[in-house]
Amino acid sequence: MLEIEDLTCTYGSVVAASQVCLSVKAGEILALVGSNGAGKTSTIMATMGHVRITGGSIMLDGVDVTRLGPRHRARLGMAVVPEGRRLFADMTVDENLTVGGYTRTKPAARQARERAYALFPRLAERRRQIAGSMSGGEQQMLAIGRALMVSPKVLLIDELSLGLMPKIIDLCMETIVRLKREGIAIVLVEQNTDRALEVADAVVVLASGRVVKAGTPEMIRADDTFFQTYIGLDGGQAVRNQVEANVEQRSS
Ligand SMILES: Nc1ncnc2c1ncn2[C@@H]1O[C@H](COP(=O)(O)OP(=O)(O)OP(=O)(O)O)[C@@H](O)[C@H]1O
Ligand SMILES: [Mg+2]
Repeated sequence: MLEIEDLTCTYGSVVAASQVCLSVKAGEILALVGSNGAGKTSTIMATMGHVRITGGSIMLDGVDVTRLGPRHRARLGMAVVPEGRRLFADMTVDENLTVGGYTRTKPAARQARERAYALFPRLAERRRQIAGSMSGGEQQMLAIGRALMVSPKVLLIDELSLGLMPKIIDLCMETIVRLKREGIAIVLVEQNTDRALEVADAVVVLASGRVVKAGTPEMIRADDTFFQTYIGLDGGQAVRNQVEANVEQRSS
């Protein structure tokens, strides 16, 4: 459903993502993990078309979307739940959802909105509440609901659990598993690697903008040094060594 090849994204001299490859099938969750600054958000935003790429290609359900803008990608079935949620804080729940469905016809948007309310009854009870006045968990539900307004085939989620209580994280995780079962292909960026591995079908680990490991959650868990090396705060040097080793391997 989503095929990313050699995606490269730079900001001036900073290489945020370098030759990143990943693919997600319909009905699958791919967890994209790595330490702060690894390039997760850049990869997500480049996939959605919000960040310009300097190389690589992005295929959405067999269509090459590499040169299309975010609006066009949304129309073709891609949606993002961005880091920090980026809701319209002064607008109501209902209005936020309506904005999410701006590419759709009125009846299709209405149907998608009712579906979002069915998925999150807490939002349905708060249709006219101002988004900025809701709890963090409710705001995350709204951010997911807004992304679902395009009835996406591919859903990109940047930091699902950040700042949420365990019970709300459970609810959000259960929801994305439901969405996956409905056939959506999901890319999940998570700081909370344990939680991500619980729901993921596949895992890609980024470090310094590069893919340093990819496999099933079991394979990642079986690697005793994984957390310390790629996720731990003291893993910086180990990551750099690994990246250098990979670069040498590629060029030799
Ligand atoms: N708009 C920007 N301008 C310049 N550099 C940027 C910009 N956005 C990101 N970067 C840099 O690109 C690199 C990757 O950042 P990115 O936000 O993609 O990482 P991340 O894995 O999402 O990190 P975090 O876990 O902290 O959210 C970092 O070195 C960051 O400083
Ligand atoms: Mg990020």
